[in-house]
Amino acid sequence: MRILFVASEGLPFSKTGGLADVLAGLPKALVALGHEVAVVLPRSRGAVEAARVTPRVVVPSLTVGPSDRPRFPAVLGDMVVDGVQYFLLDDPGYFDRESLYGDAAGDYPDNAERYAELSRAAIEIAKHVWLPDVIHCHDWQAALVPVLLRTVYADDPVLAAVRCVLTVHNLGYHGQFPAATLARVGLPESLFHMDRLEFFGDINYLKGGLVYADYLTTVSRRYAREIQTPEVGHGLDGVLATRADRLVGILNGADYAEWNPADDPRIAAAFSAEDLAGKRACRRDLLSEFALPDTAGPVLGMVSRLVDHKGFDLVTEALDALVGLGLTIVLLGSGEARYEIALREFAALHPKRCGVRIGYDEKLAHKIIAGSDMFLMPSHEEPSGLTQLYSLRYGTVPIVRATGGLHDSIEPHDPPRSVGTGFTFTDYTTDAMISCVRRARAAYDDRSRWRQLQLAGMGKDFSWPGSARRYVEVYAAAQVLAADQLV
Ligand code: ADP
Ligand code: GLC
Repeated sequence: MRILFVASEGLPFSKTGGLADVLAGLPKALVALGHEVAVVLPRSRGAVEAARVTPRVVVPSLTVGPSDRPRFPAVLGDMVVDGVQYFLLDDPGYFDRESLYGDAAGDYPDNAERYAELSRAAIEIAKHVWLPDVIHCHDWQAALVPVLLRTVYADDPVLAAVRCVLTVHNLGYHGQFPAATLARVGLPESLFHMDRLEFFGDINYLKGGLVYADYLTTVSRRYAREIQTPEVGHGLDGVLATRADRLVGILNGADYAEWNPADDPRIAAAFSAEDLAGKRACRRDLLSEFALPDTAGPVLGMVSRLVDHKGFDLVTEALDALVGLGLTIVLLGSGEARYEIALREFAALHPKRCGVRIGYDEKLAHKIIAGSDMFLMPSHEEPSGLTQLYSLRYGTVPIVRATGGLHDSIEPHDPPRSVGTGFTFTDYTTDAMISCVRRARAAYDDRSRWRQLQLAGMGKDFSWPGSARRYVEVYAAAQVLAADQLV
């Protein structure tokens, strides 16, 4: 099968979060299963340099955009990484910017145009350069692909057999814009309808994708169910419920070529389930990185975007209590200013108990996951989550709120019935989180019990091939849809 991925970020070119990890891991795993895969990404600043590739211009000026406002970005190609072909949409006016989605002032004001262009360009690439069986698009930034395919390009004979799968990595991000955007990006006014893109008087790119894609997936089974409820549906639960027969939950995989404690150039010492000695060295290295003293208590790590749905309201409220439990806290993240400030202030007040680094740092992320004893993810919502999977591999025991992919990947430690792989809590409250950490703290003091937990987690296999096979089933199901089964 030939699959064309479309997304706003992907390693090794660009990354702000887990989407980029998926855009590397899944295509590579599909290639290993014998499929042909190409990926369309915007050429964001530094992308070509980060991937250390030498692209060639394959289309000097692609015509995209409405006819009264056409744009002519170039398409770069001839880049193959791990058997996957890459096409970069090269439009410096839109994509050569300091960061991917916005700056200190908020989201870039032209995001609607930028990502409408990405979707349109991907379809043009499909039509003229690399014709796929299935276009697999990701999140709202690529959600106009199915909309365009079934409206503006509906009668295009070249694309007639192309099917489209949309993966929702986070239902909280919609791509919601004023209704007038439709005309600006060259979409028919008829899409301003409650059964199509209309959403509380605006338009919503993600809703369009949910309506028009042939199949929908999201990144865990649990989240697939949760998003059909008003609590987690972000106003789109109704639309999702109408498409429940075409909605599939597939947990993300972990790329163990990047995340393997036995062979990770970013950490102080190698270790494995057979020989955990190196983990002590990683812990010492981590503590010295943050100028923290080595104590008998556990190190609790976090690596995260500092946004609401990751549970930072609970964390900032609980910091005193966590330190009171004898933990040393190490945190790397960036995001909302109020969390950055609160965390920095706490670390300044408790320099021997808490280390905070605000920013994005790939190497430090590996050091924290390797050197911590426990890893905290108290997410309010977590579609899949990857860092808990990485933590398991590094013998770092996850403490998670049982939601979405965290629910599906972490088995609760429940002695004597089951060792499990981590600690879970359900109620989204500071008290529930603290009492869960307290249980973990107590277990940590029982060295043999803790070792058992670490080994149970390290033995789990969340590698990509299993998930990739399930995606292939979805692509195959989409392919056999007859024309009258399309939206
Ligand atoms: P999300 O995509 O919601 O941010 P995931 O757990 O799926 O959450 O993926 C997060 C990815 O981003 C992981 O690879 C994690 O290591 C990385 N990450 C998050 N914040 C940072 C940071 N500040 N520095 C380095 N890596 C980070
Ligand atoms: C989103 C989700 C996260 C998921 C990632 C990749 O950012 O918040 O849970 O792992 O996408 O699918």
